[in-house]
Amino acid sequence: MKHTNIAIFASGGGSNALKIIQYFRHHHKIKVALIVSNQAQAGVIQVAISNDLPVEVVQKSLFSNEVEMLALLKKYKVDFIVLAGFLWLIPPFLVSAFKSKILNIHPSLLPLYGGKGMYGQHVHQAVKKDEKTETGMTIHLVNEKYDDGDILLQKKCTIEKELDAAGIAKKVLELEHLHYSPMIEQYICSFE
Ligand code: GRF
Repeated sequence: MKHTNIAIFASGGGSNALKIIQYFRHHHKIKVALIVSNQAQAGVIQVAISNDLPVEVVQKSLFSNEVEMLALLKKYKVDFIVLAGFLWLIPPFLVSAFKSKILNIHPSLLPLYGGKGMYGQHVHQAVKKDEKTETGMTIHLVNEKYDDGDILLQKKCTIEKELDAAGIAKKVLELEHLHYSPMIEQYICSFE
């Protein structure tokens, strides 16, 4: 049976990427076919290598070149793109070539704490500063703007008073690890 191939785009440590790779390793339908990173030093590169997965490090010039970028994804027969801590904005040609087929995860309850500059610790520091009592994660479709597409799933967690930004980040990341892969699976399978 033909697999549905996903490419994971990541810029950082790649803990979500690792969870996704593990989740789909023996999947009957969905396969991680490629890891794309914009950072040659990113932890996710090692994650790809240790899991025997092809990895492509892309420069901005290639990433924004429609012909080259679409050719790269075609080479690996990519059907869906999953962003897991990927920090560049997805160019319009990619959004339209993969219409409703690009997912992102964001470590807040969007539309709160989203948009340009709201990534990583910046998100959790802002949440802490505002003395929020709850936060969470959002999985959404990707459009031409940062953190703006249709929401597929949100999960909340409470913020105890004594938690600092790093503690909040840890709690939210646990939610991400738990929910991203099953949501990707459910979403892709809904295309059947
Ligand atoms: C996650 O919090 C994700 O929501 C955000 O970047 C972080 C990536 O962490 N977009 P990791 O690289 O998967 O460990």
